[in-house]
Amino acid sequence: MAHRVRKAIFPVGGMGTRFLPATKAMPKEMLPVVDRPLIQYAVDEARAAGIEQFIFVTGRGKSAIEDHFDHSIELENLLEARNKVDALADLRETLLPPGNIAYVRQQEPLGLGHAVWCARNLVGDEPFAVLLADDLIQADTPCLKQMADVFAEKGGNVIAAMEVPDEHTSRYGIIDAGGASGDVRPVKGLVEKPQAGSAPSNLAVIGRYILMPEVFEELGRQEKGAGGEIQLTDAMARLIDRQPFHGVAFQGTRFDCGDKLGFLEANIAFAMEHEDLGPGARDMIDRLAGDAS
Ligand code: UTP
Repeated sequence: MAHRVRKAIFPVGGMGTRFLPATKAMPKEMLPVVDRPLIQYAVDEARAAGIEQFIFVTGRGKSAIEDHFDHSIELENLLEARNKVDALADLRETLLPPGNIAYVRQQEPLGLGHAVWCARNLVGDEPFAVLLADDLIQADTPCLKQMADVFAEKGGNVIAAMEVPDEHTSRYGIIDAGGASGDVRPVKGLVEKPQAGSAPSNLAVIGRYILMPEVFEELGRQEKGAGGEIQLTDAMARLIDRQPFHGVAFQGTRFDCGDKLGFLEANIAFAMEHEDLGPGARDMIDRLAGDAS
């Protein structure tokens, strides 16, 4: 039987300090790229990969995310009364099926590993996906779907991987793939934010994971890693010799929307591809580039 993943965790408990003051009263995950919040892209990607249950690990000040995925009766009534059919359809598409969405609070932002561990009782004893909304991926086949296809065949742990320049390896979790090439590579080792010059490769882990539930036991040790945070990478590394573990060099472009320039680039790239806005956006970019030169 093919392996299947039904549940996804969306860790949204971070502080978003790099976007202050924009994120003082609004979660980073609600920042819009063109016309939809970052978290909506992540949820849509999960839906496209067959995910049925959506678990958000939230923190203080994140209630806008709960409101976003809920009915807004007044707004829907108003749009219906004004016959704004398209806007109403867009709004209804954001909804998730009742009972298939859950929220759990990460009381302290102790790191990504800790956020994932906070969802352990809701996930239970089955494989699950993790999506970080600030990694936005533009792809013909959604990134998590590409990974779910690999998971269906191979099982075990599957993480998204991307080549990065030498000078950037110290910003990421880095994969030791034992020199293998190709789209699907065995993971032989993982190291979080290696010091300059000590990275085992240029293959970085980005914010998409399909993990086996045993990772919760490892996270339960609550050991602090790089930056004094409980790191998901460290817990995953302990599964490598016990379970199948693969990195998928996915097809697509990833934008780091946790960073201002990355966020700006994502807005430009998505606007250029947008059905209605694309031509206008391209003209605008040509005009601004012309003015600047
Ligand atoms: P980041 O490292 O980008 O941290 O987290 P951050 O707090 O969100 O943002 P900055 O650096 O202060 O601007 C990567 C992902 O892990 C989640 C974040 O929400 C983001 O999706 N995260 C991080 C948690 O859910 N909890 C944590 O304790 C830390």
